[in-house]
Amino acid sequence: MSIETRILNPDAAGIAAAAALLRAGRLVAFPTETVYGLGGDALNPAAVAAIFAAKGRPADDPLIVHLADAADLPRVASAVPPAARELAAAFWPGPLTLVLERGPAVPLAVTAGGPTVAVRVPAHPVARALIAAAGTPIAAPSANRFGHTSPTTAAHVLADLGGRIAAVIDDGPTPIGVESTVLDLTRPAPTLLRPGGVSLEELQAHLGKVAVESRSAAAGPVRSPGLLERHYAPHSPLWLVIGPEEAARAWLRARAAAERAAGRRAGLLVPDEDAALLADLAADIEPLGPAVALDEVARRLYAALRALDSRHPDCILARDLGEGGLARAIRDRLSRAAAGRVVVLDPEEGAARLPHTPA
Ligand code: TXA
Ligand code: MG
Repeated sequence: MSIETRILNPDAAGIAAAAALLRAGRLVAFPTETVYGLGGDALNPAAVAAIFAAKGRPADDPLIVHLADAADLPRVASAVPPAARELAAAFWPGPLTLVLERGPAVPLAVTAGGPTVAVRVPAHPVARALIAAAGTPIAAPSANRFGHTSPTTAAHVLADLGGRIAAVIDDGPTPIGVESTVLDLTRPAPTLLRPGGVSLEELQAHLGKVAVESRSAAAGPVRSPGLLERHYAPHSPLWLVIGPEEAARAWLRARAAAERAAGRRAGLLVPDEDAALLADLAADIEPLGPAVALDEVARRLYAALRALDSRHPDCILARDLGEGGLARAIRDRLSRAAAGRVVVLDPEEGAARLPHTPA
């Protein structure tokens, strides 16, 4: 069954209308500084159930609770350790999500039945105004159908959720473009569950040692289902090549040329420098911005991936940009989109090693 999805302006009237919908238990997508979120009243179990239904998201994947202000933390978390206070002071409002002990007011559906709750205070002025006007914590996963690429524009939201949610507030493209960093503060050591808008290096500057959840650990009991492989998935198979710049570019060239020779069409998701050097390959190229401008690459990543994917190339080829700062989040999202099709070029031998063989 389809409902009318209203498109609201990011002005006082639009925010008031959206807040009224949220208070009535309806779902509203809204911009945050990272990606668009699919918001519902976090303290209303029916609204939370509607979020899972609209996304087609499995109930075992918990939601992030969004607050207008760090002072509201006691409404959703039963304990706020000193590290949480320090990080909140340093990074909120902003793209950092903290996993804390769940407060009793938070429905178990939000936390997928677990004892912890993920919380953040977004920096986007529309998001903050909306949450404040709603007067309640807002549960908001990325506003895409489960397993799809996160939305960075209202058009992306409508493509995935139009007809399934009450409204979307359209305030143009989101400035960061990849999701928030998720840090678990309920373990003996602070643990990075998802790299994102706040870098590991920035967290280390405050906390000293930060443990990094590895993929193999995530393959056991699902601690943060967002860590699962095969997420952010395009329709065309995506290959990610990791290795020294020149070797990786040579791999892209050889692979794209082989596709063309076989009568297939490759799509390239690469920085501007590669786009210029590979322009003669007659591939479908989506340049992401200069490789050194990681903020620009992150901002354009999902829109470029969606645009390329909508033209249905036979495959999408992407080059890794390392793991410093935002590059770690970019690598994480691209390697999930690759769903195992990750080619690691050995700097010693110059040979390709395939960690997983794709189906
Ligand atoms: O930037 C963002 O974080 C965006 C915007 C809308 O705020 N939201 C977002 O939500 O990316 P979502 O649901 O797409 O991703 C939330 C991630 C998932 O990987 C989920 O498994 C993890 O956070 N998560 C949520 N609650 C958790 C918890 N209690 N413990 C561990 N991981 C949790
Ligand atoms: Mg998501």
